[in-house]
Amino acid sequence: MARESWTSRLGFILAAVGSAVGLGNVWRFPWMTAEYGGSAFLVVYLCIVLLVGVPGLLAEFVIGRRSKRNPAGALARLAPGTKSWGFVGLFGVVTALVLLSFYSVVGGWILRYFAASFTGSYFGQSGAYFETISFGWEAAAFHVGFLALTAAIVLGGVRGGIETATKAMMPLIVVLLAVLAGWAVTQPGAGEGLSFYLDFDPAPIEENPIGMLRAAAGQALFTLSLGVGTMITYASYLGEDNSLAFDGSVIAVLNTGIGVLAGFVVFPLLFALQGGLTEVTAGGEAGAIFIGVAGAFQQVPFGRAVAVGFFGAILFAALSSSISMLEIPVAYLVDEHDVSRRNATAGLGALVLVTGAVCALDPGLFDFVAGTLVDLMLTAGLAGFLVFTGWILGTDALAEFDSGAGGVARSLGTPWLWSVRTVLPFFLLATLALNLYSLL
Ligand code: PFF
Repeated sequence: MARESWTSRLGFILAAVGSAVGLGNVWRFPWMTAEYGGSAFLVVYLCIVLLVGVPGLLAEFVIGRRSKRNPAGALARLAPGTKSWGFVGLFGVVTALVLLSFYSVVGGWILRYFAASFTGSYFGQSGAYFETISFGWEAAAFHVGFLALTAAIVLGGVRGGIETATKAMMPLIVVLLAVLAGWAVTQPGAGEGLSFYLDFDPAPIEENPIGMLRAAAGQALFTLSLGVGTMITYASYLGEDNSLAFDGSVIAVLNTGIGVLAGFVVFPLLFALQGGLTEVTAGGEAGAIFIGVAGAFQQVPFGRAVAVGFFGAILFAALSSSISMLEIPVAYLVDEHDVSRRNATAGLGALVLVTGAVCALDPGLFDFVAGTLVDLMLTAGLAGFLVFTGWILGTDALAEFDSGAGGVARSLGTPWLWSVRTVLPFFLLATLALNLYSLL
């Protein structure tokens, strides 16, 4: 059967933005920003997105469009005669399954809060509510619900499923978040939240430069969906006429913009209605939205409607990311093992049903997978993709980068390739070493 492709350039851009914008922007980003001192974290993170994230994104695009394959097939095909590169791609396929296992549990929480927002059943007791629903058999059941939604979209294929769903969901997310942000920043007391978020104070960087760098690098990769092969897979459905540099920049700008916008909802709400960040720190990673923001809705006029909008937006964002995770192993089985899309989706869905349920039942394992393991796997994966692009593809990478690109974008090719060969892998390997060291 002929390989599918996107119907249009916009379809590709929205699907890639859909993958990038997700729980990473709305759940992990505000939490990390709060934990690492607000504005200082924002600045370090934005620098890493620009200097490491965007070139990394372009490397994945180049591999994907050149090979027109899933990550494992892509690296194996572009480096014929050396089997080992195929394993680097296969590592990405495994990472996607690990990632989806924990992500679907958080997706299940969102699904539950979304449903509960209609009646407001967690209002006034968000801390206790979160405690009872976050882990256990009910959490496993909602994880299955979220996974079923994900699988249903992936089953529809690249155009009918992924492209159609993301085209409908992305504008809605932006509108819902923008309305919420407009409302949140005008609340009395919101100013304190805004100054925590935006007034630059370098003290947290001076106190813990290495920790800050590690956290910001991990967040930058996670939010741009890098190091797994998502962007390889999505670019494999592209024609030659897109300018990768242009599309990559648009995707990075939209993703960062939506993340920053989520901060304009979360921080003003936390400071105006919850008296600051105590809920965030008390609730650990979950605090920012599930306890802090969810707890605030009780005091809000039309609180239920606002809560439905908020969790609805996050549900869409989470789904448009989880489909990109499932698409990687599905594309692998379809491309490399001639399995039908239907059987691949069903089989992999069954597998993640089990691995996700294990995460939903064991909070310790969940924490390890969602934090340490994912950071390590994404960093190692992206380092592999960069070394491959810089040293194995070399000038071919440059030719692919230039294909479809205008004059300005072309002039960026040579410095891009240079950074992909040298400083960027070095930076990622150093981050990986620091992460491993802190693990021991
Ligand atoms: N970028 C997604 C988010 O911010 O929620 C998470 C993600 C999706 C990471 C796909 C990695 C990936 F391959």
